[in-house]
Amino acid sequence: MRPAARIRGTVELPGDKSIAHRALIVGAMSGGPSLVTVRAPGADVRSTAACLRSLGVTVDESVDEALTHFTIAGFPSRNATVDCSNSGTTMRLLAGAIAGLPLRVTLDGDESLRARPMERVAVLLRAMGAEVTTTDGHAPMTVHGRRRLSAAAHHLPVASAQLLGAALLAGLAAGGATTISSPGPTRDHTERMLAGVGIRVRRDGSVSTVNGPATPSPLSLVVPGDVSSAAPWLIATALHPDAQVTLTGVGLNPTRTALLDVLRRAGAEVEATDRGMRAGEPVGDIRARGGGRLAPVTIAGTDAAALIDELPLLGVLMAATGGELRGASELRLKESDRIAGMVTGLRAIGASVEELPDGWSVTPGAPRNAAILTHGDHRIAIAFAIAALAGVATSVELDDPACVAVSYPTFWSDLEGLAS
Ligand code: S3P
Repeated sequence: MRPAARIRGTVELPGDKSIAHRALIVGAMSGGPSLVTVRAPGADVRSTAACLRSLGVTVDESVDEALTHFTIAGFPSRNATVDCSNSGTTMRLLAGAIAGLPLRVTLDGDESLRARPMERVAVLLRAMGAEVTTTDGHAPMTVHGRRRLSAAAHHLPVASAQLLGAALLAGLAAGGATTISSPGPTRDHTERMLAGVGIRVRRDGSVSTVNGPATPSPLSLVVPGDVSSAAPWLIATALHPDAQVTLTGVGLNPTRTALLDVLRRAGAEVEATDRGMRAGEPVGDIRARGGGRLAPVTIAGTDAAALIDELPLLGVLMAATGGELRGASELRLKESDRIAGMVTGLRAIGASVEELPDGWSVTPGAPRNAAILTHGDHRIAIAFAIAALAGVATSVELDDPACVAVSYPTFWSDLEGLAS
C-alpha cells in the first residue's frame, strides 16, 4: 500500500457490530420470529449467528445486494460447545444470556480469544447464581445456567460494555432490579436494544438497571452503519492534503462518537448531520475534508474508554501530529496487545515512540517503508493501511491483510474506491 494522490467519495459502512451482536442474541432470547438486517456483516457477527445455531436456534440468512437478512426463530435450547472464534463480544454477551437459561454451554474461541480475561465476566454471573468455570481465568469457559437468577448490585472493575451487557442480559432472568455501576461511561447499545423489546431498563450516568424476570419481544430492525468503521476514513481524510469523504447511514450514538470531538479539537473539518432514529439508535451522515493543519492530540482518563476501538487509528494520527495516550491499559487485553503492536508499528513507519504501561507518547519522524505485523488483529491492520493511504508511511506491507474481515469485510474495496 502506498499513499493516495487524492481521497474522494462516499462510503456505506458495514452494519455496527456491537449492535448486530446484541440484536442477534436478544432476537434469540425472544424466541422469535425476529429479523435483523446487517450490511456486510463481519466474521465476528457471523460467529454470534453460528454460536446461536449451535445452541439450537434457527438463524437463516438471505442476502440481497450488500444486505444480509438474519431470520431468527426458537430459543437457545441445546447443551453445546460453541466456537466464538475471534469475538470477545460474542463470548461475554452469550455467557450472560446463557446464565439465565437451563443449559450447560462451553464457550471457546481462537488462540487470541483464549488469551483474553474471562474471570471478570464469570464473577458477575456467579454472583447471580449461575455456575461458571474458566480455564485459568480464560476460555474455554463453561456456563451452567438456571432459569431463575438472583438480582445483584455489580460494581465493574473496568469500564467495559461487554461486561455490562453480560450482566444486563443475565438480569433478564433475575427477580427484581439488577444494577451495574461502571468506573466510566461505555456504549449503551444493550440498554437501547432491551428498551426496544419491552424491557424495563435504564441508564443514569454510569449506572444501569434492568428489571427482571422478563422475556424480550421479537424484534425487526436494520442495524445502522458502524461508526468505528467510519474511523479509518475520518483519520485518513484529516491527515491527507486532498481528501473529501461522505459516510452515509452511520450510527451516531453519543457513547460512540468521541472520535469526532477529538478530530474537531485537533482542528479537522468534520460535520455530522442527524437523519433520525433507526433500531433505537441515532443515525446520520458524516462529511469530512482534509488539508487543514492539525494540533497534537492528547487522550487520557475516561476518553480512552470512549475511544477504545479507535485508539490504534489515533496512534497513526499521532505519528503525524505528535501526542500522547494514557489510561488505556485495557488496550493490552484486546484481540492482541494493541499497545505493544502499535508501538512497534509506529516506530517502523518512522515515529519516535515511548511505550507506557497504559499508552504511548509519540513524536513524528520522517515517513518510511514498513513491514507490519498485525498479530491477526483487524484494528491494527486497518490502522497501518490508513498510515500508508494518508502518507504517514511511504509504504506499508501487512503480514495478514485479510484479518480486516473480522469487523470490516469490504475494507479493501472501499479503500480502492476512495483512493486515486
Ligand atoms: C464492545 C465493547 C468494547 C469494544 C468491542 C465491542 C461491545 O469492549 O472494544 O469492540 O460491543 O460491547 P469493552 O467494552 O469490553 O472494552
